[in-house]
Amino acid sequence: DSESKLQLVHRHIRQFPDFPKKGILFRDICPILKDPAALTAVIDLFEEHARKNYKQVDLVIGLDARGFLFGPLLAQRLGVGFVLVRKKGKLPGATVSVAYDLEYGTAEAEIQEDAVAPGQKVLLIDDLLATGGTLFAACELMRKQQAEVLGCMVIIELKELNGSDKLKPHSVFSLLQY
Ligand code: PRP
Ligand code: ADE
Repeated sequence: DSESKLQLVHRHIRQFPDFPKKGILFRDICPILKDPAALTAVIDLFEEHARKNYKQVDLVIGLDARGFLFGPLLAQRLGVGFVLVRKKGKLPGATVSVAYDLEYGTAEAEIQEDAVAPGQKVLLIDDLLATGGTLFAACELMRKQQAEVLGCMVIIELKELNGSDKLKPHSVFSLLQY
């Protein structure tokens, strides 16, 4: 059931103090990827949420870099395509970009101009929500492309950073909260 899947996921997250900077408690999702059962549990829970809450999903949008690990698996389950939001300078052809702040730095997010069509309904996926800067930038990209953001999905939400407030009115679904 959902509760045992959540417990399985929870057991596959490690913490590293002071990475990548002093004062940051880094939540590492790598053990999930090493265990097929834990990875299946993550995708099962995402799929269950998506099917229950969204009548129609046109695309799954994954955020660089750890959103790329889970997004394509979810997209395949839902039978829809996957699109990459990358850090600036990595995508060929015409692109649209948005700058943003991170818990530990700044960056710029970019998407191929023809990746999402106006009116398409999209689900955004990443491993973790901290300040919300990354997902906010991705929502901005979707707004520029006139796509409809159905919601954001992450494995981990760091509650004290209030990232979900920053993303309003978009909803955030998280498997685990710290
Ligand atoms: C991490 C994480 C999220 C983002 C969350 O990625 O995977 O994408 O930070 O932080 P925010 O909510 O404050 O924006 P990071 O930018 O470190 O890059 P990486 O995925 O390339 O490791
Ligand atoms: N991205 C932003 N903050 C993070 C954290 N504390 N752990 C892992 N990834 C992060």
